Amino acid sequence: MSAISELVKNGLLDMVRIPYLGYLRLAYDTCKNLSSDQLANILKIVVKDRVGIAFSAPSDMPIEDRLFLYSVVRAFKPYRALEIGVRWGGSALIITNAMEDNKAGTLVGIDPTPQIKSKKEAFYGRYTLLEKSSPEAIPEAADLLGGQLDLVLLDSIHIFEQVYTELKAVLPWMSEDGIILVHDAFHYGVHAAIQKTIKEHTDVADCGFVNRTPNVTASQWTPYGGLYMLKMNGKGSTYLKQVELTYKSRNVPVPQLGDDILNHDIWYCRAIKPCQRCSGYNTAQTDSDKK
Ligand SMILES: C[S@@+](CC[C@H](N)C(=O)[O-])C[C@H]1O[C@@H](n2cnc3c(N)ncnc32)[C@H](O)[C@@H]1O
Repeated sequence: MSAISELVKNGLLDMVRIPYLGYLRLAYDTCKNLSSDQLANILKIVVKDRVGIAFSAPSDMPIEDRLFLYSVVRAFKPYRALEIGVRWGGSALIITNAMEDNKAGTLVGIDPTPQIKSKKEAFYGRYTLLEKSSPEAIPEAADLLGGQLDLVLLDSIHIFEQVYTELKAVLPWMSEDGIILVHDAFHYGVHAAIQKTIKEHTDVADCGFVNRTPNVTASQWTPYGGLYMLKMNGKGSTYLKQVELTYKSRNVPVPQLGDDILNHDIWYCRAIKPCQRCSGYNTAQTDSDKK
């Protein structure tokens, strides 16, 4: 019996169909006997998003990091992204597939000796590879991307000097609310480089580990693993910019935001007590519960 008919028989297909990562994880645990490629193929059939790439992409990253990377691209929607350290192109596949789901974004990868085996089409025309070394190639990569960087993934050489130099070199290119992810941040030298950078740059917010499980078997001298997030916070909130962009891109009028909206909530105002703004309207004009 094929893997798919086995799943249908066991009712697992319904579980996989639910598009929440928690359920995907549950389905993944339940389907441990399937290979990553089989699971990715099943996800391709039952979920319209390309999240299956997180399971099948050729990368040393654990599944937690892959799913986080896919999700952060889906949710944060970076227009311009840079990856330093490409190897087989696994993380590049995850980022570009998530960008394709977003219908926005391009990625440039820097690696002096990449070993990408995937076909060009797998990157949906959203990827440019620079067969060069970082940090020297960072200005050229930023130039190719044509603007400030929304997302940077550092995953090249895991030593203090390299990571510290790369962090210093990417910072001037970051967008005002850009994100930097550092892989293998439990490596002692990588962690020290991150901490030194945070101390030296007040415009960098320390978001800490987003995968806080060290890999304790990679080396006898230091842990590896872990994904660390830094976020630019130099120029205040981008709230209004994001709100306006989104309303306008959907052809929905931008609402008048003011103090009388501070305590408005579509459920609370309807079920408990109308807020200052609601009480000035008749109920037919207030928000419906359509989040
Ligand atoms: C851990 S692998 C990257 C894996 C990839 N991010 C993934 O998860 O699919 C590290 C890569 O960094 C590359 N590398 C080494 N020195 C580099 C440098 N100076 N600049 C950019 N990449 C470098 C290596 O060639 C290697 O392919």
